[in-house]
Amino acid sequence: MEPLFKGKHFITLEEWTKEEIDKLLEVSKDLKHKFLNNVETDYLKNKTAFLMFFEQSTRTRNSMESGLAQLGGHATFLDTSMMQISHGESAKDTATILSSYGHGIACRNCFWQVGNKYLREMAAHSSVPIMNLQDDLYHPMQGLADLMTIQEVFGETKRVKVSIIWAYATSHKKPISVPLTQILLFPRYAMDVTLAYPKGYELPDWAVAKAKKNAEENGGTFRITHDMEEAFKGADVVIPKNWGSWVTNQSTAVVDDLLESYKGWKCTEEMIALASPNVKYMHALPADRGNEVVDSVIDGPHSIVYQEAENRLHTAKAVMAMTMGNK
Ligand code: CP
Repeated sequence: MEPLFKGKHFITLEEWTKEEIDKLLEVSKDLKHKFLNNVETDYLKNKTAFLMFFEQSTRTRNSMESGLAQLGGHATFLDTSMMQISHGESAKDTATILSSYGHGIACRNCFWQVGNKYLREMAAHSSVPIMNLQDDLYHPMQGLADLMTIQEVFGETKRVKVSIIWAYATSHKKPISVPLTQILLFPRYAMDVTLAYPKGYELPDWAVAKAKKNAEENGGTFRITHDMEEAFKGADVVIPKNWGSWVTNQSTAVVDDLLESYKGWKCTEEMIALASPNVKYMHALPADRGNEVVDSVIDGPHSIVYQEAENRLHTAKAVMAMTMGNK
């Protein structure tokens, strides 16, 4: 397989054209087919990548680590608390040196107002592609898998009504990177996107402005509501998920009075009943069961969360196969 985007950083999908994203999706679907049919895909034979994690992960780490092995290469998992980063080594030195040892560097750094800057600093000094495994603003690996899943279920994405809905959770103060990535990406595929949240859980103004622009330029629509029920009504896809109040409150405290005042923002069967009869329930996972969503919805007939999570493997492999060619 020709690494068409050899050396291209994968930090946001905004820096990838629709044609490039379409190619990644085409490769993802091919890799999924081959994986399910036991066809060998050693497109990255003897290639290596470093996976740097400042935070916990289940899907992202394992889709990358297994994915690179399935492509014939090897991934090194790096807990950054065990690296010299924890003694203050710079992003520049880390990226320069790791890029001289392998063919790709992937990193998760979700610290508010730090993560994306850290990845960009590494990209400025790396001779190999930098892959964003989630930062404070973007989660392009998740966005790509979400788009693949919607395409698998609906075929044509034009006029698919997708509602990205804030939900109550107490597990941790989650980054805004999943909803932010989704509001930028889905309008580019002509979906009708609704963003719903209670006051205090705004996404940045620049992201909202860009989501509107992406909709205008690509035949989609984008609207904001503060009425949860309104967002569920008639939706083809609902993505009720928590994110933290980072834009209005930079405290790292997980639970505060504002959060507690919105306990009612939960995906229940009553909410699902307001949506299209064939509505699909999506969530990047992990879900805060009982808070964000009731078990009967996430385990019920409308849920496609496991298909969505499964597609993380195939999209991660596509990104690596297309960017990590010979240096
Ligand atoms: N959705 C997602 O990124 O999951 P992990 O945090 O487990 O990687």
